[in-house]
Amino acid sequence: MTVEFEAARLGPILYYRGLKGDALQVAAMVLLPIGEEPDLLEAGDAQHAPKLLREIGRNAIWRYDFTLTQSNGTYHLGDQSYSVQTDLTGDMRIAFASCNGEEEGDLDRDQEERNLMWAHMCDAHRRAPFALLLQGGDQIYADEATQGHPLSEAWPDKADRPRNAEELEDLADHLRQRFAERYVQALFGEAPRWIMARVPTLAIWDDHDICDGWGSLYRSKTYSEVGQCLYRVAREMYLLFQHAAVEADIPDLFLDKTGTSLSWQRALPGVTLLAPDLRAERGRRQVMGAYGWSATEAMEPGTEHTFLISSVPLLGPRLSLVEGLMMMIPTMQKYEDDLRDQWQSRAHRDEWVRMLKQVLKWRETAPVTVLSGEIHLATRAEMGPDEMRVHQLVASGIAHRAPPQGYARSLGTLAGLGDAPVSGHPIRIHPLPGQKHRYTAERNYLELRRTGGTWHAVWHLEDSGDTEPMALE
Ligand SMILES: [Fe+2]
Repeated sequence: MTVEFEAARLGPILYYRGLKGDALQVAAMVLLPIGEEPDLLEAGDAQHAPKLLREIGRNAIWRYDFTLTQSNGTYHLGDQSYSVQTDLTGDMRIAFASCNGEEEGDLDRDQEERNLMWAHMCDAHRRAPFALLLQGGDQIYADEATQGHPLSEAWPDKADRPRNAEELEDLADHLRQRFAERYVQALFGEAPRWIMARVPTLAIWDDHDICDGWGSLYRSKTYSEVGQCLYRVAREMYLLFQHAAVEADIPDLFLDKTGTSLSWQRALPGVTLLAPDLRAERGRRQVMGAYGWSATEAMEPGTEHTFLISSVPLLGPRLSLVEGLMMMIPTMQKYEDDLRDQWQSRAHRDEWVRMLKQVLKWRETAPVTVLSGEIHLATRAEMGPDEMRVHQLVASGIAHRAPPQGYARSLGTLAGLGDAPVSGHPIRIHPLPGQKHRYTAERNYLELRRTGGTWHAVWHLEDSGDTEPMALE
């Protein structure tokens, strides 16, 4: 079932902004047909009028900025009331999901089947509420947005040159509508809509929020006028739908005030969340550029626990061997872009080491856990030694179906190789608690649970159910 973007109605979708004392600062976004007057939002004793963020096609996107207190976490909009978990001082739950869609035909999937794990998350929330929903990349799959316009029809195989600015702006309009349509699709389903009205979200993007392999494509594509137009629109829509923000909000929400890198840092009591932007500046020979590195090196770790969101897994098997091998086999070269997209690519070795050393520096202050998605499998990894252990939890995808078991097994065998890019800090891939193989090929999302001051991770797996809680220390 495809939602008709032309006359859509969406929201509220809740976004986490930060803490002011013990009050939660949030934003709520609604999308309405132009001309429809949005209601006032009520929180505590205050009424809030929304601000118009922008119009796309026949729809307008509005944002309410408000705070929720620890004693009153309920807000009202229209005839609905929404309760938000605002007591964050003791036990706490955070959900982490990634890969919310598929490359082909995602708009036409059966909604109930597509959103099964979102429904699961809603049930979990009813039993014990999540305080935050982290989204680790590929919140939409925009791959097909380039279809249906003569300039981008053959993307990424071919990037045609526009004859003039009008043609390029026509493409921008086309893409804007297509991206918005996908965001509406991703957010309007019963389960995602329900959870996102009640749990504030924080998101970082990955390639499919732009296009498959963005940044790892050849420069002739990325830096073509069509490529740059695609990036400009994807970024606009990412800000709008994943952060309820426009260009002017960048200095308030992101670390790099120029907005070149959209890296961010947030905190909740006793936990710090760091999210370097691994897409904005990506190129064939770099994961981040000057702005991303400045933002990352300015990040401050938590004093009790730090979660680092790395849209692409930071701790992985020794892929450089595979990459070398693949380059020697002509038929395999087409997979090179996929490998280029990984931290473990030979082209990114120096930067990978730089990032791992940064993580080890943060680790001196408090435990660091890396959260990651991207691979449409669930797995975990550790970087040693034990006394400096860094966990990596991979949960992907919530809506993207898993690749075949055979693929997961081969990857598991390969992952047996391990790696130690920083000497004395070996990386090992491990199965999830209760699983025999290193990679679990099922749809999934992750739950991070703080009880009595200790963090545990639970994977919610579509077929195998919930894993035993795993301590993060
Ligand atoms: Fe993905």
